Amino acid sequence: MAIQKVGVVGCGLMGSGIAQVAAQAGFPTVVREVSAELVEKGLRGIEKNLARLVEKGSLTEAAKNEIQGRLKGTTRLEDLKDCDVIIEAIVEQLPAKRELFSALDAICPPSTIFVSNTSSIPIIEMATATKRPQRFVGLHFFNPVPVMKLVEVVKSIATDPAVYEEIVAFGVKLGKTPVRAKDGGGFIVNRLLVPYLLDAIRALEEGVGSIEDIDNSMKLGCGHPMGPLSLLDFVGLDTTYYISNIMFDEFREKRFAAPALLKRMVLAGWNGRKSGRGFYDYADPKNPRPMSL
Ligand code: 3HC
Repeated sequence: MAIQKVGVVGCGLMGSGIAQVAAQAGFPTVVREVSAELVEKGLRGIEKNLARLVEKGSLTEAAKNEIQGRLKGTTRLEDLKDCDVIIEAIVEQLPAKRELFSALDAICPPSTIFVSNTSSIPIIEMATATKRPQRFVGLHFFNPVPVMKLVEVVKSIATDPAVYEEIVAFGVKLGKTPVRAKDGGGFIVNRLLVPYLLDAIRALEEGVGSIEDIDNSMKLGCGHPMGPLSLLDFVGLDTTYYISNIMFDEFREKRFAAPALLKRMVLAGWNGRKSGRGFYDYADPKNPRPMSL
């Protein structure tokens, strides 16, 4: 069965990017958020991104209108029931994800493929909230989704190999390069990235260097597009905190343990760019200033 219609649950940073690339790839796409305000906010963000592409000359106004015409926002999960694949991109917390998939399982026909954009939760832990663990796959995108080329496709021990291949092919249709990952906490990228990011926080805690010097070291010394502390602000400190807790729980290794400073910042609500403060202050978003921590 070919995938023709796409559903996305969650229209935040990741969900809106996923909905955008699905609509850009030609799929009628329904995206669901919990309130009309959040639906509106997510769709406005997509429209802004597309408008930027028109300004740059890489998209025509007519193509932009077509893409937007393929996108429908809703607050009702029931509106996703005729989608061939449903991609979840909600908060990185297992109980919320299990509750969502259990509700979708009751609404959708048995043929619908369920996909999670989780960055660290083992796929099997969500698949078992449904009666279709064989039609459940992980598809982990990277922020900003319209720009980053990679998608990790994750197979649980219960995933049907034919369904898995369908989702690998779907990733290609979305314009991404899929890599195949085993269902182990953090998959490939976060297994390598998270200890690095947490080490950067530990280096700051230990006074190895200042915020700017740590960032510049990796940017200018290793050619990374962003330094680790800027990247933490970009990904979200709360998200990184959830991921590190999940990975620590899986591996019980110090390198995955959240440093105290990360925990304190999340408790303070300094979650990075999206909250206006993290390792940098974004009062002037074009000119972030290092915080004194
Ligand atoms: N949406 C769409 N397009 C965007 C965008 C967004 N949010 N942000 C930037 N872009 C586009 C710009 O329009 C520009 O396009 P162009 O080349 O056609 O003009 C291009 O990306 C480059 O953007 P800028 O010139 O504004 O800025 P930079 O050159 O600094 O690039 C960046 C911005 C692409 C974000 C770059 O800094 C980068 O690659 N950073 C690292 C991002 C990264 O590592 N992401 C992965 C995070 S890990 C993750 O997501 C997994 C999770 O589980 C933790």
